[in-house]
Amino acid sequence: MEKFFIMYTGLLHLHNLLRWIIIILILINIVKAFSGNKNIKLSLWLLISAHTTLLIGLYQYFVGANGFKYFATYSMSEIMKNNILRFWAIEHIFGMIVAITLITIGHITLKKSTTTKKTAILYLIAFIIIVATIPWPFRGYEVGRALFPGM
Ligand code: HEM
Repeated sequence: MEKFFIMYTGLLHLHNLLRWIIIILILINIVKAFSGNKNIKLSLWLLISAHTTLLIGLYQYFVGANGFKYFATYSMSEIMKNNILRFWAIEHIFGMIVAITLITIGHITLKKSTTTKKTAILYLIAFIIIVATIPWPFRGYEVGRALFPGM
């Protein structure tokens, strides 16, 4: 059990750190793409960071206490009415998967298209969704962790 906690906490730190890498990379990519600069390597680093975060996130969602487990403990209406439960069971995973899908399409478009405008717009929308669904500390109890018995 102790080993599990150490590994889980380590992955949570990595997931947390990758947020900053993704934010910095997506901002640089947006500026480059809007100015017509086609930088596939930089876009690939963004894609790799986003997909790594997705994999860690999926693990956290299905194995950790704050995610899918809420569906076993609470009813759908209880989840929808509670800010914390709704954020971790639905909003964070849904928003991030949409954003990562846009990043993936944006990267493929950058490789295939002769212009960079479509990628710029897709990355901008992804950035807005990411910023909106990050559990920022200033959101306080709205996105805090709910206490979950048994973990
Ligand atoms: C761009 C993508 C993402 C970003 C920037 C991001 C950001 C974050 C941040 C900042 C935290 C809080 C970390 C902490 O408190 O130390 C977090 C927690 C979490 N994220 Fe993400 N996330 C992303 C994608 C995902 C995805 C796709 C999933 C699910 C498939 C996911 C599932 C989770 C879960 C379950 C937690 C809470 C873990 C726990 O409290 O035990 N995340 N995320």
